[in-house]
Amino acid sequence: MELSAYAKINLTLDILRKREDGYHDLQMVMQTVTLADALTVEPVEGREGAMASDLRYLPADGRNLAQMAAAAFRNAVGEGPQVDITIQKHIPVCAGLAGGSADAAAVLKAMNQLAGAGLAVRELAAIGEKVGSDVPYCVLGGTALAEGRGERLTPLPPLPNCHVVLCKPPFPISTPQLFAKVNVRKIVCRPDTPGVLAALEAGDLAGVARRLYNVFEDVLEPRRKSEIDAVKAVLIDCGALGASMSGSGPTVFGLFDDLDAAQAAYDRLKESYQQVFLCETLN
Ligand code: C5P
Repeated sequence: MELSAYAKINLTLDILRKREDGYHDLQMVMQTVTLADALTVEPVEGREGAMASDLRYLPADGRNLAQMAAAAFRNAVGEGPQVDITIQKHIPVCAGLAGGSADAAAVLKAMNQLAGAGLAVRELAAIGEKVGSDVPYCVLGGTALAEGRGERLTPLPPLPNCHVVLCKPPFPISTPQLFAKVNVRKIVCRPDTPGVLAALEAGDLAGVARRLYNVFEDVLEPRRKSEIDAVKAVLIDCGALGASMSGSGPTVFGLFDDLDAAQAAYDRLKESYQQVFLCETLN
C-alpha cells in the first residue's frame, strides 16, 4: 500500500498553561500542505515488521513514530498485521512541520485498511494520541483548531487555497527544550485566535495571513530569532500575505495568493538555504 503523509503548518500557536503532567495546554490553528513523505506499508507474515527510510539518521526501529503507530494500532484493536514500512522523507526533520507525526498518521490509516478494522477518523486519532501530540491532527488533516495537548480537534472552514513557501534554516530545534524555555506568565503577545477563526469563516485569506502568530518565536535565542525574522522579511518582501514560524520551528512559511510572487520568494531563499519548498494548502 502506497500513501502520502502530508506536512502541517501552524497558522497560529498559543501556549495557554503548563499542566501537571508536564505537557502544555495549547491552542493552535493548523493547516495541511501538499509537501509530503512517500510511504509504503506492506503486510509480512512469520516475522516482525521492519522499517527503512532514505534518511540514514532516522531511527529505523521501535523508536520511529511510524513503527510506534503500527504497534499502537495492534494494541488498541487487538489484531492487525505486522508490516514493513518504507519512508521516503521529503518533509524536513525536527522542523516544526510534524513530519514524524504525519508518517505515524499515514501508518494508522494504512493499518485500518489492511486489518479491515473500519475505525472512524476519530478512533484512529485517539490511537494516535498515544504516539505523539500532533498525530491526532495529522489523522484528521485540513484546517482545524487543536487544543489541549493537541488532541482536542475542531474542524474549521478550509483556508482558501493558496501557495505556501517553506524554508527551514539549517539548525534543528528540540521541541521539549523549547517548551522548557517557555514561562507562560511571561507571554506578552499572543495570536488573535478569534480573529483567525472569524477570517476563516469569512473565507478571507488575507485576514488569516495578517494574523499568523507563533508564541515560540518570542522565546528563541536572539541569533535564531534574527534568522527567522530575516526569512520572514524575504517572504514579505516578495509579496507574501503573511509569514510565521511553524510549530516549534525552525521552519518559516509564507502564504501567497500569487504563484509568481511565491516562485520569486522560493528562488531568492534558494540562494541562501538548501531546504526551501514551494507547495500549496490541502483541504
Ligand atoms: O507528544 P510529543 O511526544 O510529540 O511531545 C514532545 C514533547 O513536547 C513533550 O515531551 C513535551 O515536552 C512537549 N509538549 C508539551 N505540550 C504539548 C505537546 C508537547 O509540553 N501540548
